[in-house]
Amino acid sequence: MQVPDEFLLENLRVLNYCKADFCVLKKILEIRNSKNIRKWMYHRDLITLEEHIRFIEKLRNNNEKLYYVVLNIDNNEIVGCINLNNLNYINKNAFLGIFANPAGKTTNKGKLLMKCLFYLSFSLLKLHTLKLEVLSTNERAIDFYKKSGFKEEGELRDFVLRDNEWINIKIMGILNDEFKVNYA
Ligand SMILES: CC(C)(COP(=O)(O)OP(=O)(O)OC[C@H]1O[C@@H](n2cnc3c(N)ncnc32)[C@H](O)[C@@H]1OP(=O)(O)O)[C@@H](O)C(=O)NCCC(=O)NCCS
Repeated sequence: MQVPDEFLLENLRVLNYCKADFCVLKKILEIRNSKNIRKWMYHRDLITLEEHIRFIEKLRNNNEKLYYVVLNIDNNEIVGCINLNNLNYINKNAFLGIFANPAGKTTNKGKLLMKCLFYLSFSLLKLHTLKLEVLSTNERAIDFYKKSGFKEEGELRDFVLRDNEWINIKIMGILNDEFKVNYA
């Protein structure tokens, strides 16, 4: 299966981290390190530029992890970032990751990012299902995923320890057929 280095979707350019220039990579790190993004991630510590670059270097030889930055062609702004993890080419599934640029002026950032994820997952990679893990306290993201057509599929109890409190993880998912009904 051919993994795209980049693709265009309307006025969006979706570019693999491995093909992005240093300036864009630095901006991605700045966004990923912002307080309101990293607090919702499994890894919430600040990431150094060296760690970021080392991570991207490792992505080059790993076709189970695809990371893309989404750029608005009209104003050259970063809309946000999307990724697929644990990509399984035999069972045709993957887990998604997503974050919007909090400083971005583009409206409907989440919706645009999800459109790119669906296009990548279902139209280009022909996946059967897309799953995600979200902290049960991340109500905004859970609402956003439901609006996008995802269903709750399960819960990992007491999976994450945050400030001395155990937090559940919700597992959500969407099937290729359901995406077609909602989006196509
Ligand atoms: C999850 C995420 C991608 C959803 O994108 P989103 O654009 O916020 O999508 P929503 O449908 O919730 O919001 C649509 C609009 O309503 C606004 N909005 C929604 N809930 C809001 C709230 N509680 N407070 C303020 N504004 C809100 C958003 O700012 C957005 O406005 P915009 O189009 O001008 O950007 C984004 O909120 C994000 O990056 N969150 C942080 C990272 C994260 O939690 N990732 C998921 C980890 S599992």
